[in-house]
Amino acid sequence: MMEIDFVRSRFIKHFDGKTGNVYASPGRINLIGEHTDYNGGFVFPGAVDKGIMAEMRANGTEDTVMAYAIDLKDRVDFKLSDPDGPRASWARYIYGIALEMKKLGVPVKGFNIAFAGDVPLGAGMSSSAAMESCFACGLNDIFGENKVSQWDMVLAGQATEHNYCGVNCGIMDQFASVFGKAGCLMRLDCRSREFEYFPFKPDGYRLVLLDSVVKHQLAGSPYNDRRNSCENVVKHIQAKHPEGKFETLRDCTWEQLDEVRAEVGEEDYKRAKFVLGEKDRVLGVCEALNEGDYEKVGELMYQTHEGLSKDYEVSCEELDFLNDIAKECGVTGSRIMGGGFGGCTINLVRNDLYKNFIATAKQKFNDKYGHEPKVYDVVIGDGSRKLC
Ligand code: GLA
Repeated sequence: MMEIDFVRSRFIKHFDGKTGNVYASPGRINLIGEHTDYNGGFVFPGAVDKGIMAEMRANGTEDTVMAYAIDLKDRVDFKLSDPDGPRASWARYIYGIALEMKKLGVPVKGFNIAFAGDVPLGAGMSSSAAMESCFACGLNDIFGENKVSQWDMVLAGQATEHNYCGVNCGIMDQFASVFGKAGCLMRLDCRSREFEYFPFKPDGYRLVLLDSVVKHQLAGSPYNDRRNSCENVVKHIQAKHPEGKFETLRDCTWEQLDEVRAEVGEEDYKRAKFVLGEKDRVLGVCEALNEGDYEKVGELMYQTHEGLSKDYEVSCEELDFLNDIAKECGVTGSRIMGGGFGGCTINLVRNDLYKNFIATAKQKFNDKYGHEPKVYDVVIGDGSRKLC
């Protein structure tokens, strides 16, 4: 995590010299359960020790926000009453979450905010959810007497993505950022919103991310198309079974999917096939974790990669290459993590293989693409909080 003084010194310098309150929210990893959240399935994320830190203070105006993105050295001022909001993509998260918190009854007025992050952008670790939950936490504290519940903050973050940023995401990222707990992964049922904490201390293994540094941009990207494909399949299944209630792919069986295969076409069929398989894999991983069977966990991770690459088609050449290297090095489990189209692989690797795996991956990747992947050792940290 960053130092509070780093953010504070910029906040003082760029505004009127006064200090405010400081809040932090993490990015996330996800062990398994990809593209299942908006399909009503299960996910298995955890918060990380990297994220966003923001200093915020009410500035006494009715609705003027003065915002400074420390890492980008970019200052944007805007009014909450401006129907279009700011254009800078980072400032839209502030604008969006402020309006969503207002909808929840928080009387948000003008404020100053400076923020910085150490969660890598575009790496599939949800820097955007970290921003949303950090700003939501601050606004709830400063203007809302902390009356908004954690779940409502999760939903406000998701609504920010939908309404102001063009990404029709599910709830996994915002959930993990708000509810994260050090040392624990969380299994969330995205339909009922029930979840449980799973202490994660795999004896003899560790989790490491390899960042391909291929930028991933979900807005206006095929992410929304994937979601549309899934919803299309559900619509067809519902039409065939008017007696049933089919809200998401969670409600659909393999047989029902096969029934509509010809009418939905091969592409949508493959998308849904991945999702149904992934639903089962998350449950398989839970069972394996309970039994301490990490080899089984790893096997399921490889299956997920295969599905994300061939059926869901959200991988890319660089990530497939990193996955192949993991296999060659005997890594227990490896797969693309997050929305896809670039970003990281998440790897479950035995301690004794770790050094060789990292060295081999760096070298082979560099030989092929002219730069090394970045390496992030996963430390599972706490969710959104006020620091001071
Ligand atoms: C992105 C979205 C999440 C989820 C993942 C894929 O991170 O924000 O809601 O759909 O992709 O699992």
